[in-house]
Amino acid sequence: MQAAKIAASLIIARKINMNIRALLSERFRNAMSDAGIPGDFQPHITPAKKAGFGDYQANGAMAAAKAMKKPPRDVAQLILDNLQLEGIANKTEIAGPGFINIHLDPRWLARQIEYASDQPRLGMDEGDEAQQIVIDYSSPNLAKEMHVGHVRTTVLGDALARILEFMGHKVIRQNHVGDWGTQFGMLIAELESHLKQGEEAAFALSDLESFYRQAKTHFDADPNFANTAREYVVKLQSGDAAVLTLWEQFKNVSLQHAAEIYEKMNISLKPEDVRGESAYNDLLADVVLDLQEKGIVVEDKGAQVAFLKELADKNGDPAVVIIQKSDGGYLYSTTDLAALKYRSETLKADRVMYFIDARQSLHMQQVFCIGRKAGYADEWLSLEHHAFGMILGDDNKPFKTRSGDTVKLADLLDEAVERADKIVRTKLAERGLEFAEQEIQDIAHKVGIGAVKYADLSKTRTNDYVFNWDSMLRFEGNTGPYMQYAYTRIYSIFRKADEDLENFAAPIHFAQDQEYALGVKLMQFSEALEQVALEAYPHVLCNYLYDLSSAFSTFYDACPILRSDVDPQTRSSRLMLSKGVATTLKTGLNLLGIQVMPRM
Ligand code: ARG
Repeated sequence: MQAAKIAASLIIARKINMNIRALLSERFRNAMSDAGIPGDFQPHITPAKKAGFGDYQANGAMAAAKAMKKPPRDVAQLILDNLQLEGIANKTEIAGPGFINIHLDPRWLARQIEYASDQPRLGMDEGDEAQQIVIDYSSPNLAKEMHVGHVRTTVLGDALARILEFMGHKVIRQNHVGDWGTQFGMLIAELESHLKQGEEAAFALSDLESFYRQAKTHFDADPNFANTAREYVVKLQSGDAAVLTLWEQFKNVSLQHAAEIYEKMNISLKPEDVRGESAYNDLLADVVLDLQEKGIVVEDKGAQVAFLKELADKNGDPAVVIIQKSDGGYLYSTTDLAALKYRSETLKADRVMYFIDARQSLHMQQVFCIGRKAGYADEWLSLEHHAFGMILGDDNKPFKTRSGDTVKLADLLDEAVERADKIVRTKLAERGLEFAEQEIQDIAHKVGIGAVKYADLSKTRTNDYVFNWDSMLRFEGNTGPYMQYAYTRIYSIFRKADEDLENFAAPIHFAQDQEYALGVKLMQFSEALEQVALEAYPHVLCNYLYDLSSAFSTFYDACPILRSDVDPQTRSSRLMLSKGVATTLKTGLNLLGIQVMPRM
């Protein structure tokens, strides 16, 4: 009977995504229920805060005791009496006012790491609760070129898309590009005049910024051109074939620019993820009608307007949201409402996540509020605006070029690679190493792009941050280059050991504290992922990976691997632990959209 229970506990340990916290929580919940503690009390399992207090602690006894009017340590004891942790923990003890410290069984921990290391997803199961998750990110306006303002939405959204997919969810990426609106009348009129002069669309639009400026100058200076532009807006809206063709051409070239950026930046957005504002055009009239019928919008001075008591200001005045202008024109909010309806009804989303900067928070609140009232989003559908702060220059003002222009994303990425190239060459020269030209360029590309992305991802999303080349390209501290280097360092240990990292397998024995501490840290990967999946703060994963590489350094300083006096068993056990770290670093960085290389 007992043996069967232990076997079952091992199976469960595997089933629960190699997640120690989840496993302990489940065991504690069972124990609490067997102990007669009401079900609404949680065990509150966290990694232990101080050395010597075990590996994890359960803090839930105190709150339960208070409600049950019993001494907390007695309640903690009651939980322990019912707790089943054979084979998982080898010691539990009550500390202080009623904390329960849990010391994991090192043999169990070793088996978990060995098991995880040859699983494709580090032992994480396809969760049974796979969700359908729509992620709205990047979403540039096609009238202009992508600029520094698109870094955060693109990089943050892509990290979440990768992480949630890795965890077994069905992720539907939506690139809600701005491909509609009055400025397109001016742009396609300009395009037409270039084509008439025999230019190719791709050539005319090779620099979207200057194209936009030309069009604007033309529009302001030439009344005939301005009239044509206005006429084209109307024709575009009424579906005039010739004007639509021009518009398609413009869109395609602009989307091609964006696709090149995604490719260069290792962003997983594909052309089929594009569902621009124009895709909702045919639904807008119905949305307005529907909102009228439901009494959510009313006519006000010829416009269709929603007055939202739910979002009233300090004086109790309702928020005013225009859904249709008095001239019949629709707005950004109208499109977002249609998009929300589509995501809920057609894409069958369980969760919709928007990565849009904090300045659009009010807009998102209004869309969510109207969407809920109209029944486009059932109450169980989670609508989440994951807002983020701005990227600032050294002067603490929005990041601009020296001459005060917006920084084009393409230029920013080129500069990142150029700077990384110089640094990589210098480092190689210092170490007397010669790599092939192609490899150096590949490393410079991955380091440069990785530095920009990691600098963004490692900051708390909701804060502004200062863009600084020198700090993001440092090879020390919590930076992209350091994390990539931490991986290659382990890779080179395997090279020196003449072992193949990918196929290496050996039993793990924990002899020294640093080995054990590294083992516990290693197993916390899934906890970090789970937190990011829930709250969409990728810096939590960055911090975890950084802590993991620090734990590895501590381990490596104290526990030699390749030294001749290390016995073969210890050597292979330490290599196995190192493999776990390398695999976790690589997986974690890839989930952040950052590439690693075998050497640098
Ligand atoms: N195109 C918009 C902009 O550049 C962002 C769109 C974000 N997504 C949305 N569903 N509103 O500001």
